[in-house]
Amino acid sequence: MSVKPRQTILITGGAGFIGSALVRQLVGETDWHVVNVDKLTYAGNPESLAGIEANPNYSLEQLDICDASALERVFRTHQPSAVMHLAAESHVDRSIHDADAFIQTNVVGTHQLLATTRGFWNELEGSAKADFRFHHISTDEVYGDLNIHDPAFTENHPYSPSSPYSASKAASDHLVRAWHRTHGLPTLLTNCSNNYGPYQFPEKLIPLMALNAAEGKPLPVYGGGDNIRDWLYVEDHAAALRHVFTHGEIGRTYNIGGRAERTNLDVVRSICAILDELRPSEHGSHADLVQFVSDRPGHDRRYAIDDTRLATELNWHPQQSFESGLKRTIQWYLDNTDWVSRVRSGAYRDWIQAHYVTREAAT
Ligand code: NAD
Ligand code: TYD
Repeated sequence: MSVKPRQTILITGGAGFIGSALVRQLVGETDWHVVNVDKLTYAGNPESLAGIEANPNYSLEQLDICDASALERVFRTHQPSAVMHLAAESHVDRSIHDADAFIQTNVVGTHQLLATTRGFWNELEGSAKADFRFHHISTDEVYGDLNIHDPAFTENHPYSPSSPYSASKAASDHLVRAWHRTHGLPTLLTNCSNNYGPYQFPEKLIPLMALNAAEGKPLPVYGGGDNIRDWLYVEDHAAALRHVFTHGEIGRTYNIGGRAERTNLDVVRSICAILDELRPSEHGSHADLVQFVSDRPGHDRRYAIDDTRLATELNWHPQQSFESGLKRTIQWYLDNTDWVSRVRSGAYRDWIQAHYVTREAAT
């Protein structure tokens, strides 16, 4: 009887918000070996993986995806049967302030990862080569924005990115498609709408507003608050990625959405209503803390996902409604004040340093 070899999957950006949700699911629910390739930038927080850190099916390789020799060493050591690529600079406001790291990681880093993966994949034979997958995780922001009555983005919508972040992600998507078409690399590509959920850094809308409101601080809404986003609970996104990874057709793109279009102001008001219930304030409703501030330059008006392809071809649907996911998320932030305060104070960086000093001292 032949024994099926254990799958080793290399995940980039596994210490980030979405990557850590994916890693927690894979290590917790499958027998795959997960190799987390992460530079541990400000956005990488191994404390989000504390529950699985010691699991023998999990390894962390701290490296920059722009570093060719470090990547080659990791491929040689772990011999992965697939790559899921999430590592990126991901915050639009930061990209407006300074785009350098976005071009480096999202464009140059994706190119380096593709080049190293291709070199490794070329050496494979038989089913190892045929079954190999490179799954690139991207955003709906590559399509640009929509007016209120426009139909939602399909996978054929023309690319028209607005921010340095979305332009760098668009470039990375084009590179992935080129490596498939020109070099035959077996790729999958997913473009997803805005994620929210546990372990998201409070520089993004939902955790920022939830934490500020809980602490009685102002809630800075850009412009008039009428910009629209589609929201997907992060555990649903991780489940969708696993589903596309397993069932998707090579070379194909799948949009992933939450079927939950909301204006920013509606999102903030929903957060406030949940907090009014969970943590009533003696000063009135949390919504009184809303402050309209200067708009973001180039602010995209509306994102909306048409997920017909994912629903009909792969039969995948999100589990959480926006209301249930938001309530879980806010409860999580109220229950996990340690994680939050270590992120806000920067203490999670001390943990990373101590961890690596200890590891180096031990070797
Ligand atoms: P994040 O910013 O929370 O995490 C990014 C991770 O990548 C961090 O762990 C960071 O340390 C790592 N990283 C950054 N530069 C690196 C480098 N040069 N080498 C190795 N690792 C590096 O991001 P996220 O919100 O989890 O997003 C993950 C992916 O999903 C990104 O590709 C993003 O474009 C995409 N995406 C995000 C959303 C969203 O709403 N957050 C929506 C759709 C798609
Ligand atoms: P964000 O979470 O930064 O995600 P993205 O820019 O990728 O969509 O922002 C979501 C929306 O919320 C976006 O329209 C900008 C808006 N926003 C605010 O109004 N105030 C804030 O403080 C932040 C961070 C975002």
